Amino acid sequence: MQVTLRIRRFNPEVDQKPHLETYQLEAEPNDQVLDLLNQVKWFQDGTLAYRRSCAHGICGSDAMRINGANRLACKILVKEVGSTITVEPLLGLSVIKDLIVDMEPFWEHYRSVMPFLVNDEPAPEQERLQSPEQRARFDDTTKCILCAACTTACPSFWADGEYVGPAAIVQAHRFIFDSRDQAGEARLQVLGEQMGVWRCRTAFNCTLACPREIEITKAIGEVKNAIATGKRD
Ligand code: SF4
Ligand code: F3S
Ligand code: FES
Repeated sequence: MQVTLRIRRFNPEVDQKPHLETYQLEAEPNDQVLDLLNQVKWFQDGTLAYRRSCAHGICGSDAMRINGANRLACKILVKEVGSTITVEPLLGLSVIKDLIVDMEPFWEHYRSVMPFLVNDEPAPEQERLQSPEQRARFDDTTKCILCAACTTACPSFWADGEYVGPAAIVQAHRFIFDSRDQAGEARLQVLGEQMGVWRCRTAFNCTLACPREIEITKAIGEVKNAIATGKRD
């Protein structure tokens, strides 16, 4: 099939502002949108800039707006989006070039919630045991691949980039509800601050954008509840 691909291009070294550029491509319905970007880069214009690595929905590097919705370019097929496809960089983060945004503010929020297991007790001889129920408590939020599709779909984050954002809250949730971890209180304190979970207005955009189908808004609600009640069950 014939596909019209429109890409929002911006090269800060020569462009005053971004512009849409149009490419005509031959594609199969089962091609990924990432295949189309590769076609442009490899055969039409090698200056096109975008991030990608695994091409299998695992690394999280190719989140972008595809026909107005945040998606991974390697998880969306041409037949799902039609023969006219518009690809733009994520919103809420500044554009470095074409589809590449500056992820540093996103990583800063990620680091602020201590996204690692904290346990100062001497390590047991074997592993730290956990029941299946304890493991299930935070299973959903372990699936995050840090693609930023959620945070950059959130109106509260667009309004103020200081908001910690849904991805960081998902990462915090993964450890706050882990029975082996001891830093839950510290994380809840960070998330209880002005730019923490209370900035979330339950817009649900994050949940709709997540390529891993994580119940993000529910996880945020659980963190809010833990802060409000002081209970983590
Ligand atoms: Fe991406 Fe989902 Fe993780 Fe957000 S929660 S960063 S959308 S995988
Ligand atoms: Fe934003 Fe998701 Fe809350 S889109 S407002 S973090 S429910
Ligand atoms: Fe890795 Fe798409 S290239 S998630």
